[in-house]
Amino acid sequence: MQSYQIPEITATQKSYSRADWQRGYESLPQEFDYSIDDIEGKIPAELRGTLFRNGPGLLDINGQRIHHPFDGDGMISKITFADGRAHFRNRFVRTSGYIEEQKAGKILYRGVFGTQKPGGWLANIFDFKLKNIANTNVIYWGNKLLALWEATEPHRLDPVTLETLGKEYFNGVLSVGEAFSAHPRLDPSCHQDDGSPCLVNFSIKPGISTTITIFELNPAGEIVRKHAHSVPGFCFIHDFVITPNYCIFFQNPVIFNPIPFALGLRSAGECIKFQPKQPTRIIVIPRSSQTEKTPVQILETQSGFVFHHANAFEKNGDIFIDSICYESLPEVAPESDFRQVDFEAIAPGQLWRFHLHLQNQTVTRELIESRCCEFPSIHPENVGRPYRYAYIGAAHAESGNAPLQAILKIDLESGERQLWSGAPRGFVGEPVFVPRPDAKQEDDGWVLALVYDAAHHRTDVAILDASDFTKGAIARLHLKHHIPYGLHGSFTTQLFTPT
Ligand code: CO
Repeated sequence: MQSYQIPEITATQKSYSRADWQRGYESLPQEFDYSIDDIEGKIPAELRGTLFRNGPGLLDINGQRIHHPFDGDGMISKITFADGRAHFRNRFVRTSGYIEEQKAGKILYRGVFGTQKPGGWLANIFDFKLKNIANTNVIYWGNKLLALWEATEPHRLDPVTLETLGKEYFNGVLSVGEAFSAHPRLDPSCHQDDGSPCLVNFSIKPGISTTITIFELNPAGEIVRKHAHSVPGFCFIHDFVITPNYCIFFQNPVIFNPIPFALGLRSAGECIKFQPKQPTRIIVIPRSSQTEKTPVQILETQSGFVFHHANAFEKNGDIFIDSICYESLPEVAPESDFRQVDFEAIAPGQLWRFHLHLQNQTVTRELIESRCCEFPSIHPENVGRPYRYAYIGAAHAESGNAPLQAILKIDLESGERQLWSGAPRGFVGEPVFVPRPDAKQEDDGWVLALVYDAAHHRTDVAILDASDFTKGAIARLHLKHHIPYGLHGSFTTQLFTPT
């Protein structure tokens, strides 16, 4: 059964206009702090806590355009829900690069995804100083609010004011410049810690062989386990999944040619080339640090590119992984403008289930959802465990590649789909599932998402009833401005109100 809450758009009509989509990539240099009072519908009184989001807030430095949104300075948005009311605040992460560039009024650093300093190759040659832009995710763990960027250490922020407090090294366990990825997974019940929750994260040090380091943090925010593993080949890995016993990584088939990067001709991201004839390798690392007993396993499956996984779980000694998979990696072309991307020319991300048969070291896979989708979210208690529901940003149309305009709920048991769409003028970001307090069912809760509304050039916070998308958004909170399309965020039941 399919239940769609969608505006009437005929099959031959496009669900969006490029001009509308592009405006969501305008910079938001201002910082705000206000109660949201322009609300359609009603904020549920039981919805209590804070939604933090991160993403590029600046798409230009004083009018000089950055080459790719992944190179944009991190800006944190904070939406606090309590007693049927909501409050908005945003602030840029004061990385040293942000402060220097704002002072200079121009681009001073090369970006990983193609932003070059003005002046051509001469200005960029052998310049390996990349800016820590702290723009990918934001989490609250161990009483610390952390802005994450995968290539280096996190920035710690004040959860009340969003003020930047400095870089975080976890009592010196992380060293200066050491990476800490932007995709930690929260194990709700870690059996190495007698059922306490634990935050699992990783770092990648790529090279001819790649070092993958695993970090596990206790609820006090201390790193209690850290172990490193060397795997053959270059790795470009953004996300991973966990189960109670394993950390699992997809080594996408890519090669890295460092010469044009070193010569200043290309950014690092532009030197990564997808290898369609090579298999994807799935790296399975035991969570326990006593890996001499259980070695790292590497399995192979068809070529593909994965940025994000939805979840993984163990069943009868096998591992299942649900991931958004692309047929190939959309490459960052040096002279292109990302605003002009030809959506139809790119393969869409689709949800696949990978079955790792550990006994005979083979992998089978099955397509779960062919609709273009990205940014999956699940119930936080099901991370690493069997689960029933996934919520994913999706295209409005059933086939083809297009901007995300809808949120798709998938019932992985019954196959039922529900779709809520913001088309034709709305564009959605990552949905976040928030359980209702004392909920009994896995989908009893809300899905929160930022929706850019091109009709008003502003962003809405949409609240959906996760158990029933067909009733439409139960509330749309109109912000006073837009928020440029973001990356990741998280919800905590804590309220951080000024004292
Ligand atoms: Co990501």
